[in-house]
Amino acid sequence: MLIFNNQNELVAHLASVSNTATTIGFVPTMGALHQGHLSLLSEAVTNNSITVISIFVNPTQFNNPEDLAKYPRTLDADIEKIKTVSDKIIVYAPSVDDIYKGNTVSQPFDFDGLENQMEGQFRPGHFNGVGTIVKRLFEIVKPTNAYFGEKDFQQLQIVKKMVEKAQMPVQVIGCPIYREANGLAMSSRNERLSETEKKEAAIIFKTISHAKKLFATKSATEVTIWVKKTFEKNQNFALEYFQIADEATLLPCIRKNKTKKYRAFIAVFINNIRLIDTISLN
Ligand code: PAF
Repeated sequence: MLIFNNQNELVAHLASVSNTATTIGFVPTMGALHQGHLSLLSEAVTNNSITVISIFVNPTQFNNPEDLAKYPRTLDADIEKIKTVSDKIIVYAPSVDDIYKGNTVSQPFDFDGLENQMEGQFRPGHFNGVGTIVKRLFEIVKPTNAYFGEKDFQQLQIVKKMVEKAQMPVQVIGCPIYREANGLAMSSRNERLSETEKKEAAIIFKTISHAKKLFATKSATEVTIWVKKTFEKNQNFALEYFQIADEATLLPCIRKNKTKKYRAFIAVFINNIRLIDTISLN
């Protein structure tokens, strides 16, 4: 398995093994890989001649220094997991300096307002950091297809917008959420949960699944009130937001419109660990 820490060496290698028929599938990650990431890798391996995965905990997308410091870093275990999909996958695991060249700041982006909702509201600067790193990684890897999990649905929409605006020649592909047996969406942050917290966190998917049922007959406001009350009753969780939004614009649903697709988005803290989830509503 080839592992690169240096972008010039990765670029030179990709140039040496590519021709006009080569397709590069790319899975950008921050490591602490789980089954969800491996499913993205399988998708990339099946549909491309070369697959590259990046493992990089990107400092500029963290608005909370404690979250950045505590983000799990498990490179050796990640490499073993990647091998279970294919040992031909190319790993790019750069240092902060290899990416940011001594200037660890994000550039400002305009994502036509997608960045102002939900995660953008509660994590100031987060999407400028995501835009900066994903653009840089796309410039280095030059993927044909790039794979992102739908758990970070707002991120997926934002990356699609960035590619459209910057006219980058890459197809951005969203892949389904992987869940634990109790419904908890797989996330690298789950590694920080105790076994009891993991069990308790099943309430997140249970609640949004019920919200989906309620939304068939109730307004977005009524459903939101119900979700807030559910979490108020549960002392171990702090609900940061629950929002029913238009999938395309991410604007909150004020009045239902049959022609639109809606999605519920949720962010919850359990013992200072922030978990997000989302579900399609119609
Ligand atoms: O979803 C993630 O893991 C990160 O936001 C990404 C896309 C790898 C950028 O750092």
